[in-house]
Amino acid sequence: MGQEEWEALRDPIFSGWVTQGPKVKEFEQLFAKRHSVEYALAVSNCTTALHLALLALGIEPGDEVIVPAFTWVSTANVVRYCFAKPVFVDIDLNTFNIDIEKIAEKVTAKTKAIIPVHLFGLCADIPAIKERFPNLKIIEDGACAAGSALNGVPAGGLGDIGCFSFHPRKSVTTGEGGMLTTNDKALGEVMDKLRNHGASISEEQRHHGPQPYILPAFEMVGYNYRMTDLQGAMGVVQLGKLDKFIDERDKWARFYQDELKEVKWLSTPKVPDGFKHGWQSFVTLVDENIAPYKRNAIMQILLDKGISTRPGTHAVHMLDVYAKMYSLKPEDYPNAEAANNFTIALPLHNRMSVEDYAYIVETIKSI
Ligand SMILES: Cc1ncc(COP(=O)(O)O)c(C=O)c1O
Repeated sequence: MGQEEWEALRDPIFSGWVTQGPKVKEFEQLFAKRHSVEYALAVSNCTTALHLALLALGIEPGDEVIVPAFTWVSTANVVRYCFAKPVFVDIDLNTFNIDIEKIAEKVTAKTKAIIPVHLFGLCADIPAIKERFPNLKIIEDGACAAGSALNGVPAGGLGDIGCFSFHPRKSVTTGEGGMLTTNDKALGEVMDKLRNHGASISEEQRHHGPQPYILPAFEMVGYNYRMTDLQGAMGVVQLGKLDKFIDERDKWARFYQDELKEVKWLSTPKVPDGFKHGWQSFVTLVDENIAPYKRNAIMQILLDKGISTRPGTHAVHMLDVYAKMYSLKPEDYPNAEAANNFTIALPLHNRMSVEDYAYIVETIKSI
């Protein structure tokens, strides 16, 4: 963020239009174009996007929705918001995404949808999921995947509905913020109403201008999940930088991959053929069998040398709330457990310098 974002905030401040308005519309149109989808609808964050996606697909109490066991907690929480059951599936440690081979054993008569996550910016293999499970509705959790693609198809247009985040840990940010994408007009219309208290504006109002005596109709219980025009204005500027950011991150991801090859105890992320990684994070995996120290000790050494790292994310089935709710044990999803315990996200950011990257690889090699 810098001068351009700062200046972009002038428009909504001085026009006085600060909630969902023209800047949100502009951001949506640009986002839809960049991700090759018909409809993009901005919302307050990716968690609310996921919630609306489930509601639009008709998920009801008692339904089951498949989610990967290693993801940010909101992928599962949103299923609970609908009083449905999140059913966890283990991940593939090569991609950190849902293991497609393990989905079938979790599908029951109650399974209505699946939320594959494009974790850290690498798309889940949605075409393969579609082919194997044609009856399941697919919501892409693309929180980390703005600008990612699979076989040339951008994230957000691979499943029935896509959901994105503009939280500051993502490649482009609006502070908080989210986006829904779809190519289905009916789903787009429902989500448009749901984000705005369930209000539907009549065609007459839309086309013939303001008529002070007509209020919107309300046919459903909706939510206030709108984005502000301040965020929309910032989103327009940030989106314009997305491809440059990804290209830079891609360059440094390759640098890490090459330089860290000799560090046998640390595996770097692989990008399978046909996948364009969005590099929200560069997440490595420590092999504690051959590493000189445990994962946490390595992170502490790095911190002591001024290098800030984080675990990739958490295994949701190991969080107290879900472990208790469904009597889950860590070893029920061994790969998610391993990812929970052994991942390290290395620094990857557009404000880092050549010297920063060189210092990080040298420090890791010295360990
Ligand atoms: C995989 C995943 N899903 C959902 C979310 C939620 O996004 P938000 O913070 O915009 O609600 C995140 C955010 O970190 C995420 O990483």
